Amino acid sequence: MDHFLYRNGALHAEDVAIAEIAAEVGTPFYCYSTATLERHYRLFEEALAGLDCLICYAVKANSNLAVLRTLARLGSGADVVSEGEFRRALAAGIPGERVIFSGVGKTRRELEFALQNNVRQVNVESEPELDLLNEVALALGVVAPFSMRVNPDVDAKTHEKISTGKAENKFGIAYEDAPRLFRKAAQMKGIRVVGVDMHIGSQLTDLEPYEQAYTLMRDLIERLEADGIPIPRIDLGGGLGVPYTRDNQPPPLPFDYGAMVRRVFAGMEDREFEIEPGRLIAANAGILVSEVVYVKENAGRRFLILDAAMNDLVRPALYDAWHDIDPVNEAPANAPTQPYDVVGPICESGDTFAKQRVMPNVSQGDLVVFRSAGAYGAVMASEYNTRPPAPEVIVSKDRFAIARPRLTYDDILGKDRIPDWLEDAEDASASTHTA
Ligand code: LLP
Repeated sequence: MDHFLYRNGALHAEDVAIAEIAAEVGTPFYCYSTATLERHYRLFEEALAGLDCLICYAVKANSNLAVLRTLARLGSGADVVSEGEFRRALAAGIPGERVIFSGVGKTRRELEFALQNNVRQVNVESEPELDLLNEVALALGVVAPFSMRVNPDVDAKTHEKISTGKAENKFGIAYEDAPRLFRKAAQMKGIRVVGVDMHIGSQLTDLEPYEQAYTLMRDLIERLEADGIPIPRIDLGGGLGVPYTRDNQPPPLPFDYGAMVRRVFAGMEDREFEIEPGRLIAANAGILVSEVVYVKENAGRRFLILDAAMNDLVRPALYDAWHDIDPVNEAPANAPTQPYDVVGPICESGDTFAKQRVMPNVSQGDLVVFRSAGAYGAVMASEYNTRPPAPEVIVSKDRFAIARPRLTYDDILGKDRIPDWLEDAEDASASTHTA
């Protein structure tokens, strides 16, 4: 459930009319709902109540500081995959002790940064990374909290670009190699073994792959402990899917997920658990609002040309992802519908949000929204075609605030530097002007 509902035919974010924000901020813009973020966080809390479980929100899903601060206030930890994300977590008030550092390519500098900022644990994904972490810790005179991301070779049955738990994927340490590397880590002076971790993919709509992976994890923990290596922490990763459309069977709820976790880890309740949800917390807590620039008919097709583009929301172009698209002014129940190709202004055909999408009639100047755009939306934006990415707004009850302003063209052009050997050219053009 989210808090983007129609009231008297006008779409609202909580108690604020979307049209009101559009009038003040301009389009396109992202709009987030505080109540929805909070609700989704609490769903996980309730689903895992009774277990000692830290929710480490996956910052990559939506790293806006206003979003992170909202979650930090609820006690959330963070799962980060770069120094930049680590800095965002700290800036939002999430202390290092609640930050998990994940990712296959952490650099020396990033490991140093993590250890200097009291990282909760580093989820190590390879033997060379283990060696480097030990070296960096010894050089800094600290002991690194080590958890191993294990690749269970389980098919998460999701889109191939966001599947991470198969042996062919770049992620994690092969299940067969895990015991040897845990023994190695346990001997290292700069390493303290704290846990084991798995993350098999994103937008999972079936609990079965989770159950397979977690059962393997449980077996591994039992083997390691029989070998004298205690594993006090279990990091279950993220990946629980969200409903992207109201027309399909919804994916399992956090409650169902929690019940499965309790079943698989029965008897291990004395451990600390961690989960790393991103999408489920943020996706349906955000929409992208856009205005119709033109409605164009070409060779029998009707194109809805919007002022948002793939540089704002790349998921349809990259993953053929579906986002429900709704008008801000609600269409009456029996209003006529027709198929539209919904596109942005960018100069490639990939800039297509939806083909032959059946929608109520919309006209030039109307506002439409993409639903479920709060996760992997703004964070994946770019300035392609020198378009300022959509700004971000956050709503709480009857208030809204700009959480990231729209860049000006001066901001964008001001980022570039013309090298000194080209500066003559500028003089030349200046002299042409003065001539
Ligand atoms: N933990 C790790 C180690 C991850 O790599 C990810 C996501 C998560 C947690 C959070 O997964 P979530 O709960 O959000 O599914 N850009 C893609 C999604 C990429 C997900 C990458 N890893 C998309 O737009 O669908």
